[in-house]
Amino acid sequence: MRSLADTPDSVEIAAAALRAGRLVAFPTETVYGLGADATNATAVAAIFAAKGRPRFNPLIVHLADVAGGRAHVTWEDRAERLAAAFWPGPLTLVLPRRTPSAIADLVSAGLPSLAIRVPAHPLARALIKAAGVPLAAPSANLSGRVSPTTAAHVAGDLAGTVDIVLDGGPCGIGLESTVLDLTTSRPVILRPGGITAEAIGAILGEPVAHLDTPPAPHGLSTGSMAEALPSPGLLASHYAPTAPVRLGATRTEPGEALLTFGAPITGHSGPRFDLSPSGDLVEAATRLFAGLRALDLPGVMAIAVMPVPGEGLGEAINDRLLRAAAPRPAAHAGTGKAD
Ligand code: TXA
Ligand code: MG
Repeated sequence: MRSLADTPDSVEIAAAALRAGRLVAFPTETVYGLGADATNATAVAAIFAAKGRPRFNPLIVHLADVAGGRAHVTWEDRAERLAAAFWPGPLTLVLPRRTPSAIADLVSAGLPSLAIRVPAHPLARALIKAAGVPLAAPSANLSGRVSPTTAAHVAGDLAGTVDIVLDGGPCGIGLESTVLDLTTSRPVILRPGGITAEAIGAILGEPVAHLDTPPAPHGLSTGSMAEALPSPGLLASHYAPTAPVRLGATRTEPGEALLTFGAPITGHSGPRFDLSPSGDLVEAATRLFAGLRALDLPGVMAIAVMPVPGEGLGEAINDRLLRAAAPRPAAHAGTGKAD
């Protein structure tokens, strides 16, 4: 894998590779994406192969501007207002696909809907414009594993299968976009992310529903969060380091590593990574995936995670932590609802 620094030349090289049907990993404000020309079915198929991603899990199409969005989906008033408020930025809108459409069917895994977003990262925007095509891009990690927030993370997962990563430094937000379903009369958050439910509700003038089991925000200071859910089996294992993840830690066991939030618990002597010593959720979001990777060390029996409050970005942080701690399938690749 070639890691290209942020220069106009690199953007041109990467754009030419995309137009030729190859894969390019690139930074967005959320996490690094693994991009392909969304109109090229063979290139899109190569994304699924490189990640080991199940074919039933659809991809987000990344566009240069709102006009691009209108071209590929049935546009509507709620989308217009949300795009005006949050694009470019970490909000993905799921809308009915236009038919016929230049976007390969495989992108939306055969669904009648399409997920679209306009990323805010300048390098992502430059790349989409230079390529001149919409980019299908999931997070640039192996399916089911922790999302990458640096070019080195991407190389760690995909060096053998992807030619180019554009290196734009660490991602500013560090958690994926919020995925909002607008195909129903009531909007539903399918995945909490960089834009909070409260912020979306304020623009739409109505509360926004969540899909099935949202992360429980409170009362999780002891034991495992997964155990606190009505149906832990509903949780697909995802964002998972190799070591088991134990949530709601108020003390650590011998052999455990510790992911802290706020003042670290006392008496811990093993490896430690601080999400935010001051208890700032925005800082914690930017450091979450790097922390899970940093503590995933040989000999670590489990990663113990201190409680993180559920408000604002804490909802998305707890969603990722719950999935990281969820029961694992026998093998990550190609199983479960992983992306
Ligand atoms: O921040 C992000 O969204 C990053 C960056 C690279 O843009 N991308 C990302 O993609 O997280 P991925 O593939 O890891 O996650 C996409 C999520 C999945 O949960 C997928 O099931 C959902 O979006 N999705 C995509 N298309 C959909 C559709 N048509 N209907 C419902 N859900 C969809
Ligand atoms: Mg992903």
